[in-house]
Amino acid sequence: MTTAPDRGGAVPAESSGGVASDPATRGDVGVATFRRAWSDLAPVGRAPGGAGYHRFAWTRDDHTLREWFAGEAAARGLDVVVDRAGNQWAWWGDPDAQPGVVTGSHLDSVPGGGAFDGPLGVVSAFAALDVLRSRGVRPARPLGIACFVDEEGARFGVACAGSRLVTGVLDADRARGLRDADGTTMADALRTAGRDPSALGPDTETLARVGAFVELHVEQGRGLVHAGAPVGVGRMIWPHGRWRVELRGEANHAGTTPLADRRDPMLDLAAFVQHVRAAAVDADALATVGKVRVEPNGVNAIPSQVTAWLDVRAEDEARVRAVLAALASWAPAEESWTPVTWFDADLANDVARVLGGSAAPAAPLLGTGAGHDAGILAAAGVPTAMLFVRNPTGVSHAPAEDADEADCLAGVDALATTLTHLLTRDQP
Ligand code: GLV
Ligand code: MN
Ligand code: MN
Repeated sequence: MTTAPDRGGAVPAESSGGVASDPATRGDVGVATFRRAWSDLAPVGRAPGGAGYHRFAWTRDDHTLREWFAGEAAARGLDVVVDRAGNQWAWWGDPDAQPGVVTGSHLDSVPGGGAFDGPLGVVSAFAALDVLRSRGVRPARPLGIACFVDEEGARFGVACAGSRLVTGVLDADRARGLRDADGTTMADALRTAGRDPSALGPDTETLARVGAFVELHVEQGRGLVHAGAPVGVGRMIWPHGRWRVELRGEANHAGTTPLADRRDPMLDLAAFVQHVRAAAVDADALATVGKVRVEPNGVNAIPSQVTAWLDVRAEDEARVRAVLAALASWAPAEESWTPVTWFDADLANDVARVLGGSAAPAAPLLGTGAGHDAGILAAAGVPTAMLFVRNPTGVSHAPAEDADEADCLAGVDALATTLTHLLTRDQP
């Protein structure tokens, strides 16, 4: 399997197949769209040094990405609606006449994130739409392409902020008061981006337009590598959450304070991280301390305070709760919680069968420990499916995240097939 030469770049490795097997030479419209869109996005929000991406909500790069989305929609004659949270919806057909089938994902990233988590779903959505049109598909209901804002929660701490806001899972007052690392509130960031923060809130009008939602995403593991399949179908999302722990100490001079007189919260942090690991092992869960803030963060000063963020996930809620119970003395404060999400089993089986076709086995069904806007919509009662595209490294939220171009194009094809099925079948 070939891999991308530049891990921080946004170019999927091209298939090693010969000319005859290259879809571009067959004139597939989805291929042209995919390649052009992918190279458009490649330079936006590159991390310093080029290793991965820093694409955070309501920043200048985010604005560039939003403009790109609006431009792609306009070029296809789609109507763009921006909902109360700032999520973008591009419509082919009128979703107020009848609910539509929506596909899409997000364009923001974690700090130092890979090229595929999010953008693959948005780019594939436009490419699949072009495929549908080139095939002369006549949808019986509207088709929407969605770009959710702030999926990673990298700036303000709450993942899937855009979908949580419109579904009412994230309270608008709380969202407005969330602060980034510089102390800027989400309300101020929205104002700077030209949006009215008082608009935040549940958006039933937007949700009423979504009859079904399909999110295509790079796989964040190696399930499809083991299955030997380029594309799989989502079965469920593990329950997961984020907590904050405050460790207080006493600021003092690094060169003049005897060790015995110190109250150093860095020592508490070290102990906490060890406890987190042990609790996760005991509970058969995953737990991560991936973000800390140290005050005042000076090399020659004992810190006055350390704040640590904890991410815990497991196959079931009892295991997550067992980790939290083992860490109770650290008083973790919950910042977000997502219960287990089971995707609509009938829809998942239907999509897996349609993708398999009559001659092939159904596409594999996969669970995942990663959160997605699809999970938030599913929990809100929207019939939802996910498609995963094989990731040869299995790495995600890091520059080594990868997908071969041939698999990305298989994903576009699978998405086009799924959308055609959902847009043309008898029931909505
Ligand atoms: C988002 O990708 C998450 O799983 O945290
Ligand atoms: Mn992610
Ligand atoms: Mn994602």
